[in-house]
Amino acid sequence: MPRYAPDSKDRVKDAVDMVDLVQTRTELKRSGPGRYTGRCCFHEERTPSLSVDADRKLYHCFGCQAGGDCITFVQETEGTDFNGALEYLAGRYGVTLEILDDDPKKAAARKREAQLLGLTERAASFYEKLLWSSPEAETARNYLLGRGLDEEALKTYRVGWAPEGWDRLVSASAKAGVEPRMLEEAGLAMRKRESRGYNDRFHGRITFPLCDGRGQVRGFGARAMKADQQPKYLNTSENAIFHKGQQLFGLHLARSAAAKSGIVVLVEGYTDVIALHQIGIQHVVALMGTAMTPEQVGELARLAPLLVLALDPDGAGEAAMEKAAGLAKGSRLELRVAELPDGRDPAELVQDGRAEELRAALDQPMHFTRFRVERILKNSDLSTAELRDEALAKLAPVLAELSEGALREELVARVADRMALGPAIVDRIVRGAPRPRPQQQDVPPRGGFQGAPGGPQGGGYGGPGGGEPNGDVVGRRLPHRLDPYDEQERTLLALMLALGTEGRRHLGELDPQDLRVPHVRAVLEWLQSGGDEGGQLPADDGLSEVARDVILRSGTLDARPAVLEVELAQLALRRLERQIEEARRAGQPIDELRRSATTLRDRLDEAMVAAMDL
Ligand code: UTP
Ligand code: MN
Repeated sequence: MPRYAPDSKDRVKDAVDMVDLVQTRTELKRSGPGRYTGRCCFHEERTPSLSVDADRKLYHCFGCQAGGDCITFVQETEGTDFNGALEYLAGRYGVTLEILDDDPKKAAARKREAQLLGLTERAASFYEKLLWSSPEAETARNYLLGRGLDEEALKTYRVGWAPEGWDRLVSASAKAGVEPRMLEEAGLAMRKRESRGYNDRFHGRITFPLCDGRGQVRGFGARAMKADQQPKYLNTSENAIFHKGQQLFGLHLARSAAAKSGIVVLVEGYTDVIALHQIGIQHVVALMGTAMTPEQVGELARLAPLLVLALDPDGAGEAAMEKAAGLAKGSRLELRVAELPDGRDPAELVQDGRAEELRAALDQPMHFTRFRVERILKNSDLSTAELRDEALAKLAPVLAELSEGALREELVARVADRMALGPAIVDRIVRGAPRPRPQQQDVPPRGGFQGAPGGPQGGGYGGPGGGEPNGDVVGRRLPHRLDPYDEQERTLLALMLALGTEGRRHLGELDPQDLRVPHVRAVLEWLQSGGDEGGQLPADDGLSEVARDVILRSGTLDARPAVLEVELAQLALRRLERQIEEARRAGQPIDELRRSATTLRDRLDEAMVAAMDL
């Protein structure tokens, strides 16, 4: 872990465009000077509750209470640690980070990695240039365009051509002073078998740069062009900068589209990604073949809450989908399967001018249970009663994962039909099957307004007609809700802040004892002592979080004096009720206080009516 100079965070923060940063994840709308709102990218919702303060560079969600600065935003959305966030932002906003190094070994390793990445980057440019300019790449160009991929999309993914000949990259690099040994380390050259010296690793192949999440080229997938070239795709092997198990092709180009749509599409091939991108489906990434690792699933889960599998509809593709489901279990990633027509892969469908069918298949992906049931039925021999019982034994636990509803009903009927049994019998067998461990329960997005947990269509995903009972709430993070007092008192302070001089006056007069929540009370005292002048936040971390929340709320609130009237009346009423309680305990008369309370209640009613009258 490199240590960065202490002013790094400040320098990065200065350079960040907060609105641009948040927009990588969700669309924002200007709501006032320096204020933006949008749908929260930390929990599922239909109405905006994410607020961004462009000048202070803060964000806050009123729905799930996610909030922070540019660093926490990147930590949360990209799943990085502090340094990772710093590096991400430095890269995006062109800040050079100064490393303080006490460990010379690590410094050397880091320098080496940067050098190797420099080489893969140069190689990518070299190949890219050749594809579009060299006569020898004409066949490759024609092949790619003939596959229905267009120039723009190919350039977006920096597709290139590794030239024929043994050592074109090696010798071009040597001229630039690059040692071949370094090229070997970067996965670009190989020691000659028979004699001294090095050869290129890739020749006479179409190159697909394999980038990390930041778009840095770490390796290549290189497609053969001739029948006798083996393998069809030659990929970079595992080395210091390339780790196959972490690789998702197209990740850096898919991220913001995935965040915006809440969906990530997973395909098998590089060409599938490019073809989909080309027809406007940019939230798409590819595995390296069909092997799937936990790291990749983790990365996918960070991209979006819903994963649509569009792998080739063959045995390997289907097995990969099952593997994905196994790996995704226990995570919050919901899986669906797109049924591609006629066993074609996405690139072929685009090539054949069937983009609309492809789009439809991706828009209507089936529930994973349906996919599994069909797969078991397809792969089972149902010719005897014994074999049908075997198949039923496999199907029952799968069906048992579904809760009561239309989908379960339909699949039970389908299985019954294929087994030549009555649905009631199948249903009974399913009920007898071992039930899966209870699923993680999602907390409803906000205060229970949007239906009970587990209710249909809780998520923002407009899936297949709302008919499938288990396809509910897809959320990215458990929203941590505030208790109602906390909520109310923060809003009160925000309201006062938002109402200018008049609001400030009320804020100054507010008795901290009127607030019940200790940390909101502390923020009140901090505000009353003028702590927020000059855009500061309290030094204490916990307090600063609450203060930031209050300040941000003040920017988006429906701030009208009439609303403050309501709040003030409520406060006064609560104060009076406290006094009545105390008087009662002390055995003092309370009639007078009671009368005041009645008057106050009337005042409150009036205030509410006035506040509602827009
Ligand atoms: P496919 O053979 O389905 O390739 O392998 P494709 O994407 O349809 O290829 P085109 O369209 O004919 O060019 C799917 C993926 O499996 C990996 C590659 O990542 C490829 O994109 N693969 C395939 C290999 O790594 N090595 C191979 O030899 C073949
Ligand atoms: Mn394919």
